[in-house]
Amino acid sequence: MPPAPVLPDLADRTVLVTGANAGLGYFATEQLAAAGARVLMACRSAERADRAVAAVRARVPDARLDVLSLDLADLDSVAACARSVDVGLDAVLCNAGLTSTDGRATTAQGLELMMGGNAFAHLALVAGLADRLRSGARVVSVGSIASRWSPVDLDDLQAERDFRSFRQYGRSKTATTALAFTLDRRWRAAGRDAVALAAHPGFAVDVLTPARPGVVEPSPRARSLARPARLLVQGKDAGAWPLVHACVGAGVHGGEYWGPGGVQELVGPPAPARARDHVRDVATGERLWAAVERATGVSLDALA
Ligand SMILES: NC(=O)c1ccc[n+]([C@@H]2O[C@H](COP(=O)([O-])OP(=O)(O)OC[C@H]3O[C@@H](n4cnc5c(N)ncnc54)[C@H](OP(=O)(O)O)[C@@H]3O)[C@@H](O)[C@H]2O)c1
Repeated sequence: MPPAPVLPDLADRTVLVTGANAGLGYFATEQLAAAGARVLMACRSAERADRAVAAVRARVPDARLDVLSLDLADLDSVAACARSVDVGLDAVLCNAGLTSTDGRATTAQGLELMMGGNAFAHLALVAGLADRLRSGARVVSVGSIASRWSPVDLDDLQAERDFRSFRQYGRSKTATTALAFTLDRRWRAAGRDAVALAAHPGFAVDVLTPARPGVVEPSPRARSLARPARLLVQGKDAGAWPLVHACVGAGVHGGEYWGPGGVQELVGPPAPARARDHVRDVATGERLWAAVERATGVSLDALA
């Protein structure tokens, strides 16, 4: 495995990470905290968040961490989370997400859970945070290679007519990424100095991830059995690298897409990634934007 990228000194930065208690969000938090950033960990379980805080502090004793309550499956919780932030933010990592559900499930407001939680709720969160984004702030949405083969169905975004779990996951990630590009375009047009972009982790699994007691505990045997897969799969520690790079790395610009630079963007250190035309399509992005406002009832005016 290549060495972890070296981060700049982040002592003056504050980053909000959603889903910071597990997986990629946990490792993004650990990496940011190790470089000196203050991290606001937005999590839906206080108990799991506390375990993650303990795991970070075991490695970074002086880590500056705050836990926020956030359930993306409830827009009231999303609004309350945004209101609870009382510091300026240099980056927001919109990471939390579900990759499947057993049958079609819904949020508290009746939206399909993956489209509503992974995609729509994150944009609502960013709208709620708009006036706390510092000059030059980066909003980073976490996409997926699944969006390569998952154009959204604008006539059935909530999968009411036809639900297939993996397809809906891919569509939620396409929407997440398309909304990031749309936000960046809108900010540029309005002359705002915040930027939005997307990043994806390639293919990252717990079994190849180094142990963090209380957070992720793959058995040594499973880790060694999985080792040959490393050509095409990586741990979530490495999967977090492109996400962290998009948040704080050098040479990053609004509207970009970052991912692992290795074979098929599945593994490797951060590099520019390619978003498919259906993800970058401007008209689709604008229709998604309108759909978020309609479906959530949340005004996106604060995002200009
Ligand atoms: N791993 C990959 O190969 C891969 C590839 C492409 C994209 N991604 C994306 O990367 C992101 C993180 O994936 P991961 O592999 O790290 O998954 P993970 O290990 O399952 O972690 C998911 C995180 O999201 C949180 N979460 C889920 N639903 C939530 C909700 N309603 N409200 C608040 N938080 C919620 C989870 O909290 P709990 O612990 O409370 O459940 C957990 O912290 C996802 O957006 C996923 O789509 C992952």
